[in-house]
Amino acid sequence: MKLLILGSNGQVGHCLAEQAESKGFDFSATNSSQLDITDFQKVRQTVESVNPTIVINATAYTNVEKAEDEPEKAFEVNSDSVGNLARICSQKNIPLIHISTDYVFDGTREGYYKETDTVNPINAYGRSKLAGETAVAENTDKYVILRTSWVFGRHGKNFVKTMLNLFRSRDELTVINDQIGGPTFAGDIASAILKIAEVLDDTPDFSEWGIFNFSGKEDVSWYEFAKSIYESSRKEQLITKDVSIRPIPASMFKTKAARPLNSKLDLSRIKSVFNISASDWKSEIDNNIEYYLQ
Ligand SMILES: NC(=O)c1ccc[n+]([C@@H]2O[C@H](COP(=O)([O-])OP(=O)(O)OC[C@H]3O[C@@H](n4cnc5c(N)ncnc54)[C@H](OP(=O)(O)O)[C@@H]3O)[C@@H](O)[C@H]2O)c1
Repeated sequence: MKLLILGSNGQVGHCLAEQAESKGFDFSATNSSQLDITDFQKVRQTVESVNPTIVINATAYTNVEKAEDEPEKAFEVNSDSVGNLARICSQKNIPLIHISTDYVFDGTREGYYKETDTVNPINAYGRSKLAGETAVAENTDKYVILRTSWVFGRHGKNFVKTMLNLFRSRDELTVINDQIGGPTFAGDIASAILKIAEVLDDTPDFSEWGIFNFSGKEDVSWYEFAKSIYESSRKEQLITKDVSIRPIPASMFKTKAARPLNSKLDLSRIKSVFNISASDWKSEIDNNIEYYLQ
């Protein structure tokens, strides 16, 4: 098996390259300065020269707020380029593993979202990612799309690092308590993707192509997630002063982009097809919080 990993400087892409290396996989990885995913010709040339057995796309335009001001850029990276990549993969009969988001949903459902539930994104980023899912499905048959949520990794910007910085600089802060979702460790997304790649490689007649949810459990609010980060950082003495964290509704926290109130994902499909279990976000926070302090 030979992997081509695109976007190796992102939270997930970095973990993918790191784990592929440590597991001794044959792989080639490109970051945004080596390969711009919007350069259709260069993407084709790269796939042709690397000649991978599986392509993994970890590139994305992920700035949810900025996407409201420049949706065309979000669509260029998250949809047009993904369609082009899927077309190339299809022509060369190479399976494509792509990553999508809980933000394809509007969050009004009660309970857990299944892969087949109605999509209805409520911000520009979510619309661009949904267009990317559609572009994959329209251009190739052999694809796995992993829909994930609330990603945090040791490499890159994320909520965990933002909270740690705020705990250091503030004595009190407010955090949203009515948006519920599954924080997902980037390292667990990478492990899941590499496991999927191995299954695809070992199963020539694989037929369960399509969308798979993958997230951390237990689902929590941002406020509960912040409290966990705080407790771990106090326990490890990374933060040595008291910080008062107060819950507030999303309606009191003004943002350009609306976000779904419910992002809880049902993980039964990925368990039954690939035997992959939920990301254990709490263990990563409890055991490795020091890696997030910058
Ligand atoms: N972050 C989340 O909370 C979250 C939640 C749900 C789903 N997801 C999805 O999970 C996947 C991985 O997200 P992540 O958190 O790892 O994102 P990330 O850290 O923002 O990484 C995305 C990577 O894509 C690269 N990129 C952007 N535009 C590019 C272009 N034109 N050509 C080549 N590379 C380009 C970026 O390059 P630079 O390094 O130059 O910026 C960055 O390294 C994405 O599909 C995302 O939509 C993320």
